[in-house]
Amino acid sequence: MSVKFGIYKCNICGNVVQVFEAGAGELICCGEEMELLSTQYEENEIGEKHVPVIDTVHEGCETGVCTEATYVSLNKHPMTKEHYIQFIEVMNQEKNEIRIKFFKPEETPVYNITGFCEKPFALELCNVHGLWRSK
Ligand SMILES: [Fe+2]
Repeated sequence: MSVKFGIYKCNICGNVVQVFEAGAGELICCGEEMELLSTQYEENEIGEKHVPVIDTVHEGCETGVCTEATYVSLNKHPMTKEHYIQFIEVMNQEKNEIRIKFFKPEETPVYNITGFCEKPFALELCNVHGLWRSK
């Protein structure tokens, strides 16, 4: 049985999938059961930051047209071909709206989610250290 919104990875080929409707079957890839990635919440001694941070900031105030913008970001995480943030996903509290942004290794892992919803939470997937959730 799969888990709704669970993110699964094939440890052989690297396929990553997310379940939108949970069924009774197992998710199989390359002939083996896919791994349900567990969600991590706390930074550890890795020395990089993985927990996504959601911040609302004021922009353009110096021009007299002050607006609010909301970003999900990660500080101090490598973005190299070998080790990078694959995507940031945000979801509302009701878990019926999702937005997702994918990153290439050379990009900065910042996602502008202005206007998405009240109190979103964010997930990010590091290709080396797995799945992390905002507080
Ligand atoms: Fe990492």
